[in-house]
Amino acid sequence: MAQLLRRKPQAVLGVATGSTPLPVYEALAAKVRSGAVDVSRARIAQLDEYVGLPAGHPESYREVLRRQVLEPLGLGTDSFLGPDGAAEDVQAEAEAYERTLAEAGGVDLQLLGIGTDGHIAFNEPCSSLSSRTRIKTLTEQTRKDNARFFGGDIAQVPTHVITQGIGTILDARHVVLMATGESKAEAVAAAVEGPVAAVCPASALQLHRHATVVVDEAAASKLK
Ligand code: F6R
Repeated sequence: MAQLLRRKPQAVLGVATGSTPLPVYEALAAKVRSGAVDVSRARIAQLDEYVGLPAGHPESYREVLRRQVLEPLGLGTDSFLGPDGAAEDVQAEAEAYERTLAEAGGVDLQLLGIGTDGHIAFNEPCSSLSSRTRIKTLTEQTRKDNARFFGGDIAQVPTHVITQGIGTILDARHVVLMATGESKAEAVAAAVEGPVAAVCPASALQLHRHATVVVDEAAASKLK
């Protein structure tokens, strides 16, 4: 990200929520604070959002990204691109977000995490590999995985999301997928060494011209 910003200060940075990328955001913020990187002209693009949480809900991804990315980088909401999960017409909001990304010139670098089921953004297994931004239903597994952000209560985790599609993600000029911990090892092996198949949405990255996968030893442990 820092390299990209030096080359292209007005870059569009696609960011994921979740635990995995937090050290990246902290490291980038430290570079910004020390003056090594100027992020002031960059834009931050959201990957996905829960549907139905009231505006300002602390676990809405817009709020999470404001706390974890925008504020530490010294950016205001005018630098932020993202869909409104509280919109009345969710499908229209999803389509409008596709246009917003296109008008911004597309995403230069998309940071991704991976779900234990191989999802990227909230494209759950069997999502179309050419899908665009749309409403999706979360699987039980993902709602269980994310219950930790809602006081451990799965009933509080929304059932629907707006997510960039796999086709939308593949439009980014560079995609960086990060995975840490043993719980991700199977998904990483399926994504990197398995067949390109909708049952493992992350496997679509094998088709990308510039995709980087960053793993720790545990997440790499099931690679051949
Ligand atoms: C979040 C997102 C998800 C997460 C994935 C991994 O915006 O798109 O695909 O990246 O669920 O989450 P963590 O990093 O919490 O394991």
